[in-house]
Amino acid sequence: MNPVEIIRNKRNGKILTNKEIDYFVAGFTSGDIPDYQVSAFAMAVYFQGFNSDELYQFTKEMIETGDIVTPSEDMRNYVDKHSTGGVGDKITLIVSPIVAACGLKIPKMSGKGLSFSGGTIDKLESIPGFKVNINRNDFLKQINEIGIGIIGQSDNLAKADKQLYAIRDVTATVESIPLIASSIVSKKIASGSKNIVFDVKVGVGAFMKDIKTGIELANTLVELVKDFGGNSIAIVTNMNAPLGNYVGNSLEIIEVIECLKGNLPKDIEELVYELAGELLIIGGKATDLLQARIMVKEKIDNLEALNKFSDLIKYQSGDSKIINDYNLLPQAKHNIVIKSDNDGYISFINAEQIGMLSLSIGAGRIKKTDEIDYSAGIYLPLKIGDKIKKGDVIGKIFYSKENLKLDNIINIFKSAFEFSINPVDEPTMVLSVIS
Ligand code: URA
Repeated sequence: MNPVEIIRNKRNGKILTNKEIDYFVAGFTSGDIPDYQVSAFAMAVYFQGFNSDELYQFTKEMIETGDIVTPSEDMRNYVDKHSTGGVGDKITLIVSPIVAACGLKIPKMSGKGLSFSGGTIDKLESIPGFKVNINRNDFLKQINEIGIGIIGQSDNLAKADKQLYAIRDVTATVESIPLIASSIVSKKIASGSKNIVFDVKVGVGAFMKDIKTGIELANTLVELVKDFGGNSIAIVTNMNAPLGNYVGNSLEIIEVIECLKGNLPKDIEELVYELAGELLIIGGKATDLLQARIMVKEKIDNLEALNKFSDLIKYQSGDSKIINDYNLLPQAKHNIVIKSDNDGYISFINAEQIGMLSLSIGAGRIKKTDEIDYSAGIYLPLKIGDKIKKGDVIGKIFYSKENLKLDNIINIFKSAFEFSINPVDEPTMVLSVIS
């Protein structure tokens, strides 16, 4: 077979045969097909897409390039949750202990931050001692004993994805629905997940910028999981403004703990009840959202979810004393308070801009090799719809890096906000549910 012919066929909109797909995926995973041909192929798929048969075959072949965990019958109570990535998105760290406290098992492999979007693994690594790499046996024992574990992505799962993703990242081909769906689903199926709730984020702070493409991705994910014999639901959610009141790793861990103590900002509350509720239904613990919501509230109110989070930290060698003493988390050396120049109602807060700003103060990586400053981050006390006066505090930046251009940072922060003289409605967080 000839890679050039396969690229040409896809470029011209032809349907690829299973053999062509298998040959191409195996070829780029082994290194026999060079990066420049993989780039051209990714661009051809970006423009021409895959039909559902091609997508299934492509994903199946990606799965077969690495280790495969075979789910067993007694994994009915196992669930997984996946977010396509956002700013201030700490929902996984809140819903996972809640559903584990309800008796589900949630073994999670999570990622690091990508571009402006934060990563669950980076947030957990801000907890002193917390290990995100543990051996398979210890991980399985932990899941058996406490029902929850969160580790970094194994390099041995869907190896093809790692290579393809690195190329997509630098060839403007990340935003392709079949490539995103195959990337996500290959890792989920390879890791043995069968009951999955997807949080498909749309808006300025997400990779999917509009609801139409968000719904298209949500449908594609659900169909693809079904093709592999799994069960999933995709919730399309609003990612225009940063979630909650904090962006930045240790600050978001504090916010997670506060949420598990019952202090949930409204946007987080709406998402937590919806996503934890769907996980309880898909995992067979609740029959409908009403019943599921009652269970979620009970596990927050009686602190069982908080205790699960504490168990998670202890089992993964972290210092669980942080739950009652936030000073044990990394502390920023400096902070600046930012005040409003405007009167009125907040009508917009640009999550992508806040996400990029958080990278520039050290809370994320601009280059892959950058070290994260876990203490760096941004406090956003206000939400869309809030009424403010000139001089009110609209933010606080926590940082330790010296030589930051503070005037620049303050200007970027302020320009992320838009105001209206008329009252503004609070945004709806759950935009669509695809099952
Ligand atoms: N997350 C993934 O794992 N893959 C993508 O392509 C995009 C987001």
